[in-house]
Amino acid sequence: MIKKCLFPVAGYGTRFLPATKAMPKEILPILDKPLVQYAVEEAHEAGLSDLGFVTGRGKRALEDHFDVSYELEHQIQGSGKEKQLEGIRKLIDECTFSYTRQIEMKGLGHAILTGRTLVGDEPFGVVLADDLCFGEGVGVLAQMAKLYNQFRCSIVAIEEVPKDETNKYGVIAGEALTDNIFRVTDMVEKPDPKDAPSNMAIIGRYILTPDIFDIIENTEPGKNGEVQITDALLQQAKEGCVIAYKFSGKRFDCGSVKGFVEATNFCYEEFYLKNEPSATVVPIKKTK
Ligand code: UTP
Repeated sequence: MIKKCLFPVAGYGTRFLPATKAMPKEILPILDKPLVQYAVEEAHEAGLSDLGFVTGRGKRALEDHFDVSYELEHQIQGSGKEKQLEGIRKLIDECTFSYTRQIEMKGLGHAILTGRTLVGDEPFGVVLADDLCFGEGVGVLAQMAKLYNQFRCSIVAIEEVPKDETNKYGVIAGEALTDNIFRVTDMVEKPDPKDAPSNMAIIGRYILTPDIFDIIENTEPGKNGEVQITDALLQQAKEGCVIAYKFSGKRFDCGSVKGFVEATNFCYEEFYLKNEPSATVVPIKKTK
């Protein structure tokens, strides 16, 4: 059973300036819930309760969010508003939260390596809160945790993207094991559409085996001068096995304004208008 999950949240969120000047991007809410809470709920639903955050300067609000707020809670005690804090209280009660800082933003691979002290020597999940996922029937990370039990190697979640958008993602090539499971044979970070090995893009959900840390340590900075997790994963795929999994559900790139607005509209229709609390799991779509 995987118990640990890493949340790299050190990035500057420059696409959301000025909103992110003094506030972490991951605190931006979709409806009434911050992105980071959706991310933690998804991990919790997958049975991962030992949660580590790789933070940076100006991210204190994240730590405060996963702590009790005595004054506020005393203030609203006995009122109907208490209900609105039930979800976050459950997470605080049932998970442990640890933090470490990435001093320099040297890329996602480097952020994950920074989290090594929080993870130790066991397989772990990685969730990028700015990719907001709604799993069909089961959350996306829970779908991946199940797959890990079968393959026992690193797993990346993938999604087909328009060919002209491959330059925003890590893109894989793979040998199909089933309709939605691939054994990775190649991986390229942000390729030009003409050089992309496919249109299957890696999104912000990973399950990694701990040998990835040594591999990252030996990975030179790649695209944009950053230490890329994609490069380390390719190495791992060459030495052993990495699985790419086309998940069931929907993903919104909430690191971009467009994706953020689309996610808001989705939640408004899927949850708010139905008077339901927003969640990371949606009902399975019936196919005709
Ligand atoms: P992004 O590049 O999408 O996030 O990184 P960003 O840098 O915050 O956003 P923009 O481009 O400036 O708007 C993907 C994820 O990886 C984390 C980010 O916090 C984000 O969740 N990250 C990235 C780190 O934690 N450290 C890094 O050095 C790089």
